[in-house]
Amino acid sequence: AVVAEYESTRPGFVFDEREVPPYRLPDPLRSRNGRRVRTPHQWRLRRQELLDDFRTHVYGRRPRPAERSRPRFELVESDPTALGGAATLKRVLVHTRHGSRSHRFEVILFVPNAVTGPAPVFLLLNNRGPENTDPTRATISPFWPAEQVVAAGYAIAALQVGDLAPDDPATFRDGIIGLYEDTATTRPRPADAWGALSAWAWGASRALDYFATDRDVDADRAVVVGHSRGGKAALWAGAEDERFAMTVSNDSGCGGAALSRRVFGETVARITDDFPHWFCRRFFRYGGAEDRLPVDQHELIALLAPRAVCVGSADEDLWSDPRGEFLSLAHASSVYGLWFHRGVRPSAMPPLDRPLRVPARSYHIRSGVHDLTAQDWGYYTGAADRLWR
Ligand code: GCU
Repeated sequence: AVVAEYESTRPGFVFDEREVPPYRLPDPLRSRNGRRVRTPHQWRLRRQELLDDFRTHVYGRRPRPAERSRPRFELVESDPTALGGAATLKRVLVHTRHGSRSHRFEVILFVPNAVTGPAPVFLLLNNRGPENTDPTRATISPFWPAEQVVAAGYAIAALQVGDLAPDDPATFRDGIIGLYEDTATTRPRPADAWGALSAWAWGASRALDYFATDRDVDADRAVVVGHSRGGKAALWAGAEDERFAMTVSNDSGCGGAALSRRVFGETVARITDDFPHWFCRRFFRYGGAEDRLPVDQHELIALLAPRAVCVGSADEDLWSDPRGEFLSLAHASSVYGLWFHRGVRPSAMPPLDRPLRVPARSYHIRSGVHDLTAQDWGYYTGAADRLWR
């Protein structure tokens, strides 16, 4: 029934497993010079090659000053009686300057009062409107269940992706990107110039810079979380910034956890057409030519190794290709294997609502629609429990 529904609303796309054309994935352990990586030490170099390929061909490259920026933090509110006394609320402005230009965005944070010592922290890249992360809790949304996460012993934070780069092809440079380039010129941007996903991920790293200065949170146990387009950005944040100990991709789909070469649901051609501001311009040329991409998304998961990663799907969310999301995790196994972590077989996709857990990785497919729910969060805090308790 779900397949038929998709086929009627999105004709021309594949929603039936039997229609997926065959494909061959690149081997993450095969270096550019043809040598095979066999040790974590050799992986360090190979990892740089892959990171560079993703920057050049998919998400774009950040300008150097952006990578080196040192933000200033301004605590604008601190309330130790938040969430009925269970948490301390902090609102922090993150200020960045470059030349005569400046930018700022807000990070909101609830720290559990019951935890002694620095608490591990979940940071959501919120792509769904600030009411979902309401610090006053006048609106409580399962998309960011602060009460639940705090009760589990974790700090929970959020930033609004639109503060870093508006989610709009006409104005996406009006956030942090415009700090570092001249948006008035009509000259085309370089083919590898960063797009909105990279700008959102950059914001995650600046939030982490703040966590490193706050004694109430443990920046060595920081989790970056995102749903859908936010999940694409969360994966890229975890790849670009190895300080994130864990990365959570919820229903991230095409350009996120789902394999690009597996033509099922959303495709590279469609996503670059609909959301040209998310990726770098070079990515466009791979629409309909995915086999020419030097990388595929299992290698994005591999960039997280040996750190923790959780991939979540929803069974009615065919547009995101749940199976393709699972397969990325499975096909990253050879890289996790360098640390002797157990592999995930491509045939081992778990049944509905029964997470598959192996060291450093988890995958689940929730029954229901494209969303980030309390059930998903329960799996993610559960994964953190196994890692840190
Ligand atoms: C669209 C888009 C997806 C994206 C989703 C979302 O459906 O095609 O790639 O993940 O929006 O962000 O909810």
